Amino acid sequence: MSFPHRHLLGIEQLAPRDIVALLDLAETYVDLSRSRGKHSDALSGLTQINMFFENSTRTQASFELAGQRLGADVMNMAMQASSIKKGETLIDTALTLNAMRPDLLVVRHPHSGAVALLAQKVNCAVLNAGDGRHEHPTQALLDALTIRRAKGRLHRLVIAICGDIAHSRVARSNLLLLGKMENRIRLIGPPTLMPSGIGEFGVEVYDDMREGLKDADVVMMLRLQKERMDGGFIPSEREYFHRYGLDRDKLALAKPDAIVMHPGPMNRGVEIDGTIADDINRSVIQDQVEMGVAVRMAAMDLLARNLRAEAA
Ligand code: NCD
Repeated sequence: MSFPHRHLLGIEQLAPRDIVALLDLAETYVDLSRSRGKHSDALSGLTQINMFFENSTRTQASFELAGQRLGADVMNMAMQASSIKKGETLIDTALTLNAMRPDLLVVRHPHSGAVALLAQKVNCAVLNAGDGRHEHPTQALLDALTIRRAKGRLHRLVIAICGDIAHSRVARSNLLLLGKMENRIRLIGPPTLMPSGIGEFGVEVYDDMREGLKDADVVMMLRLQKERMDGGFIPSEREYFHRYGLDRDKLALAKPDAIVMHPGPMNRGVEIDGTIADDINRSVIQDQVEMGVAVRMAAMDLLARNLRAEAA
């Protein structure tokens, strides 16, 4: 199994065969995580440092657990309490950490491109855990694994990505991945939350949920990212839910076996009706969380194999 990459910075750099290789390996880690032992030594002797400059619950926990299940020494840097607050630059923090000789650095940062910049300054493998509005590759990979398991394939599906597309790194990484795997992608949301020029990406753009959801195999809802908005994007949350929130009536327009996804954290009653999110016959939101750990195990394993091959 070859994965010709030193870092995992985005989906953009991956070929379809890299994506398939990673998902196939992740399947074995789903099995391992469901077994009683739950452990392998794929990362034993390696040090993983998680640096989250933005709040996170599931992504950080998922990377932490993934590293532990593979036997790495895992450290979480508390970035809220770090010297960044004292004026240290991102690069100085990175160089300091680099001197502690980590093998894997997992980074989330509010600025697009910050993780790639950091990767140029350190000697270890860097994994992007979300940079601004740019990319969130492991989220797209875990979404892909979830879709492949639920639908039995990852190509020629009609996939509707709905809501706050403009602020979403999840949408961007998913668009890249699902496009590379030859799916039909529809973006649905108010024009104020649609990136300009998006029509040129080979996607269909809708501002009406009822049209966009028609015959969809996958309905992927996105969180309304209020922290990235400076006002005026939506009239009110009530109005937003009425027009763009996923409820029973709108979901009924998708295929009868369409699955519902959300990367979390959810705003119940804003972008999604809570009863749909909890409906185990439609929602695969908990599967996404489970697949997240397996995908991160696979990603770190593949990068660690390359580190070892380089050192040998
Ligand atoms: C997403 C993120 O941080 O980009 N969450 C996640 O990683 N599960 C999506 C979001 O914050 O809405």
